[in-house]
Amino acid sequence: MRGSEIRRTFTSFFEERGHKLLPSASLISPDPSLLLTTAGMVQFIPYFLGHAPPPAPRVVTVQKAFRTTDIDLVGLDARHLTFFEMMGNFSFGDYFKSEACAWGYELVTERYGIDPDRLWVSVFETDDEAIEIWADEVGIPRDRIVRRGRDDNFWWTNAAGPGGPDSEIFVDRGPKYGVEGGPEFDEERYLEIWNLVFMQNEVSDQGEVVGELPKKNIDTGSGLERVAVVLQDTPTAFETDLLWPLVAMAEELAGRKYGEDERTDVSLRILAEHGRATAFLVADGVLPSNEGRGYVLRRMLRRMVSHARRLGIDGMVTETLARATVEGFGEAYPELVENRDYVVQVMASEEDRFRATLRQGLVLFEQEVDRATGGRLPGDVAFRLHDTHGFPLELTRELAADQGLEVDTERFAELMEEQRRRAREAAKKVAVGTGSFVAPETEFVGYERLADEARILAILDPGDTELEVAEEGQDVRVFLERTPFYPEGGGQVGDTGVIRSTGGVVRVTDTQPAGPGAIVHIGTVQSGEVRRGEWAQASVDADAREATARSHTATHVVHWTLRNLLGEHARQAGSLVAPGRLRFDFSHHQALPRDVLEEAEYVANRRLADDDPVRAYETTMDYAKSQGAIGLFGEKYGDIVRVVEIGDYSRELCGGTHVPHTGKVAIVRVLGEGSIGSGMRRIEALVGPDALRHVNAEHRLLEEVAAALGAGDPGQAPERARRAIERIKQLESELGKIRKGDRASLVDTLAARAMPVDGVSLVVATLPGEDADGLRELAQALRSRLERDGPGAAVLGNADGGRALLVAAATPALVQRGVTAPALLEPAARAVGGGAGGKPILAFAGGKDAAALDRALATVRVRLEELLRGG
Ligand code: SER
Repeated sequence: MRGSEIRRTFTSFFEERGHKLLPSASLISPDPSLLLTTAGMVQFIPYFLGHAPPPAPRVVTVQKAFRTTDIDLVGLDARHLTFFEMMGNFSFGDYFKSEACAWGYELVTERYGIDPDRLWVSVFETDDEAIEIWADEVGIPRDRIVRRGRDDNFWWTNAAGPGGPDSEIFVDRGPKYGVEGGPEFDEERYLEIWNLVFMQNEVSDQGEVVGELPKKNIDTGSGLERVAVVLQDTPTAFETDLLWPLVAMAEELAGRKYGEDERTDVSLRILAEHGRATAFLVADGVLPSNEGRGYVLRRMLRRMVSHARRLGIDGMVTETLARATVEGFGEAYPELVENRDYVVQVMASEEDRFRATLRQGLVLFEQEVDRATGGRLPGDVAFRLHDTHGFPLELTRELAADQGLEVDTERFAELMEEQRRRAREAAKKVAVGTGSFVAPETEFVGYERLADEARILAILDPGDTELEVAEEGQDVRVFLERTPFYPEGGGQVGDTGVIRSTGGVVRVTDTQPAGPGAIVHIGTVQSGEVRRGEWAQASVDADAREATARSHTATHVVHWTLRNLLGEHARQAGSLVAPGRLRFDFSHHQALPRDVLEEAEYVANRRLADDDPVRAYETTMDYAKSQGAIGLFGEKYGDIVRVVEIGDYSRELCGGTHVPHTGKVAIVRVLGEGSIGSGMRRIEALVGPDALRHVNAEHRLLEEVAAALGAGDPGQAPERARRAIERIKQLESELGKIRKGDRASLVDTLAARAMPVDGVSLVVATLPGEDADGLRELAQALRSRLERDGPGAAVLGNADGGRALLVAAATPALVQRGVTAPALLEPAARAVGGGAGGKPILAFAGGKDAAALDRALATVRVRLEELLRGG
């Protein structure tokens, strides 16, 4: 049975038994306590906990799942996978153990056709009921039912939430895979293919049972890859039709065969497994970054690149593997097909970047290898390679091993731990002060109106202490029962405005979300006092809101334009929507040339001028998707989403505020475009009247430039400017020639005035009009000239700008006679109220006492004599 057939068999078996087939949730976990979706049940947590009604009492899914534990182990053997598909049936307070066990057995024996004699089951140690069901109702011999403890047979998500005892189904794969005796002895031979969880408990974040769920539920999970291993009788998942095409692709890239050499196999497995997993992550909207799931993605992509290198692959690998993943899984997961170009581009650009840092890191590595002693590469080096060049530890170890060195991994681990501790402490600092205050829910009415009356539910000071009353000048955070203030979200900034109670006025400078359904108004009491429990009038700054709404609608039009012009991959990665301006981040692999940017600006403005209506409505996630709405990820089945639709061309999931039709935006003026790293670009633009102001300011600037250049018509300004600059260059070069000539003759004149002092030629002169550089150049030129005739020194100075400036140069021959330039200059420096410093052959001094310059220069001769005498 091929993978696709197994999926179909599973889902139709349960559909026949009254289950509703639901799509897989995103890999970005719909549950905030988990980073990534680790099991089929994650999208159903609220139903188990009784927080929301389920869409149907019985449900079946094939869920994309991802487990990050020990990424570093994946590939080293053929057992571990990060990404896998989990088939599962679910009952929300409907059927329970008997049906779950009976159906599990029926599907495995009758639909998959596995011989009942090959089956074993495990149950939670105290679950006698499950034993009776397996033995009496299903008919599994008692000697193939084993009791196991908490570690094996109690399931929870590893976060606080639902959990329960479980029962697992194992298949005996026969003697070629291990020893006899059941799953207690050998889990390679006796492969677990299905876990039936009797979801009935609520557990703490430590996994302790803290209560009962409102209902008894079923959550089962059957790894598709494992079922395929059994039905296709392959040694591991890598030989199944699910992963083999990717392994074959890796073989081709490397020009090597799988199964001939273990070291090669490890790398081929990593390319295949990580290639598939990363493509799925990116298609769900994960972007490479340095934290959370973005870091998981980055680490895996880097691991792929370093193993490609180990295999001797010169070219890029991610694109080929991403395309192979789309090919193999696109039918079951259409999001892969929809985002193909985007996925390829994100992966390839991260690969590209890492290759560059890899090259730099290798330079550092080689230097350190030369320095290494005692056959050891210091942990600090491994850490630095990891920290600044992103080298996975295993890469450093491997490179070191090739040089016969061992990495001090203990020290490395120590440094990593130190870094984590610092990060934890920094995080703690931010969290301090939240206290025990729970933000109350606020009804948001800002889509319909800009002012409303509401009761003040709570007032906090900036330290989050609750206040009964806040007086003039106090900084506050105000919670209202109902508010027209939009809390920052979806890139749109929070509203500003005023909250007026009978006793006082709060000036609101920002509005932020404060937990689920809660909104906080941040501001200062401007006059009087405000009290908790009072009625207040909350009014949003209408002008600012209007300007923000224009920017938001413009952002959607810009997004549409970019996708239209550049391709589907030009997807929004972030935005800032503020009054009169917007910033839009999107994925694209290269800079937009001037003419493309201008074209985009033109197209966007044309669209705006169509004056299409902008409509917003709430609908189900499914309907929105079916209408081709684009938007952020992480929603789950059953979510109600808000769609903003412009004309018939743009449809986005969006919670922001918009103008009613695009003509109101009037104009969007692109200021510029640039890279923000990793295949991401950023466009900044002005919107509406603010854009006009900017156009005018630019225009005025141009006129001023034209006038300054003497061009009557601004059109002539560029030509004039070019000519003027050419002329300046020409004059500068002529002037330079003249100066050179002047200086050469000045040096001649000064040298001719040298006085002999005990066999040393000394030049002392005041040279007005020279800055420090000028004096230095002249002193150096003089030194070269004097050098021809034996030891010499030159001391030059001036008192321009109210300060005395002195430079002394000594020839090397003079320095050899014990006279250095700083020593020579010292009394002179003191005379002008400063100190002398510099090198033996060149010294500087400066002082406030400009009037003392002549006196200072007069000290030089005496000083020279003194020094020559050895004083
Ligand atoms: N939640 C259980 C598991 O992931 C069964 O679906 O194994």
